[in-house]
Amino acid sequence: MVRTIDWVDGAVEIIDQTELPARTVTRRLSTVDELVAAIRALAVRGAPALGVAGALGVALAARQYRDAALAGAVHRLETARPTAVNLARGVRRAAARLADGPDAVLAEALAVRDEEIASSAAMAARGADLVTELCGPAPRLLTHCNTGGLATVVGGTALGVIAELHRRGALGGVVASETRPLLQGARLTAWELGQLGVAYQVAVDGAGPFLMARGMVDAVIVGADRICANGDVVNKVGTYAHALGAQRAGIPFLVVAPESTVDASTPTGGDVEIEDRPADEVFAFGGRRVVPDGAAAINPAFDITPHDLVTAIVTDRRTLRPPY
Ligand code: MRU
Repeated sequence: MVRTIDWVDGAVEIIDQTELPARTVTRRLSTVDELVAAIRALAVRGAPALGVAGALGVALAARQYRDAALAGAVHRLETARPTAVNLARGVRRAAARLADGPDAVLAEALAVRDEEIASSAAMAARGADLVTELCGPAPRLLTHCNTGGLATVVGGTALGVIAELHRRGALGGVVASETRPLLQGARLTAWELGQLGVAYQVAVDGAGPFLMARGMVDAVIVGADRICANGDVVNKVGTYAHALGAQRAGIPFLVVAPESTVDASTPTGGDVEIEDRPADEVFAFGGRRVVPDGAAAINPAFDITPHDLVTAIVTDRRTLRPPY
């Protein structure tokens, strides 16, 4: 499997996710500012991948800057996006080795990468076991946003579980919700499912709760950008609506995320900064402006699913169930 992000010959290499599914483009990022711009543009995205990006970014910074300039570069990386805890965590972990020199920083960043790869494999097995236990042998799953290898390094979180169920012959179907406005579901999840040979249907975001009410979905399975101490789940905007739909339909709502996304120091979802993205993401569809002149927009990139809507949280080490 190709890695979404890696360290190659002294630079960070990513698959540019803004180009998918039309083209698979590898981009080489050799400066901190190129990497920060790629993070902001969602060329590299998804909580675990952001953690690796942040850590590798500090490895770049350690080679390029000293003193105040180095501290500034670390700060730009840490604050490139606010919501996924992995980014700041990856940056801080690598930055803690700065006093030991650039090689020590790089070794720490590569450890972050390798741990995310190992986590994906562990979550896939644990999550697949849980889905089969809760839903039986051929469940039809709905997933939101993109949580596959593109969002991690290889493998994935929720999509890694779906891939594992497919490998086991224990998957009844997949609905990928399109994930407005940047279409991580329609563009990226659909592309990854196609690569895996998994049959899927793309649905508009608003269809999810209705499909659940009609008995066409057996469980919802998503990733997370941050899991708070009380079990509140911060994830791509639209997740909360799917959780409400799942509760109403009486089906499991499952969250799959590595321990690196669990943030015990943040008490509740209400304590998390939710990223506001530019209005023009909402105004456009397929690159064409669709709203009248003078329109305003509100564009939160994430929402908060309260813990009481979450059936279980699967990490690489644990399966958490209420009360969280
Ligand atoms: O804005 P994005 O595309 O970075 O948001 C990503 C998500 O919300 C994912 O669901 C989450 O990071 C989990 S990825 C394994």
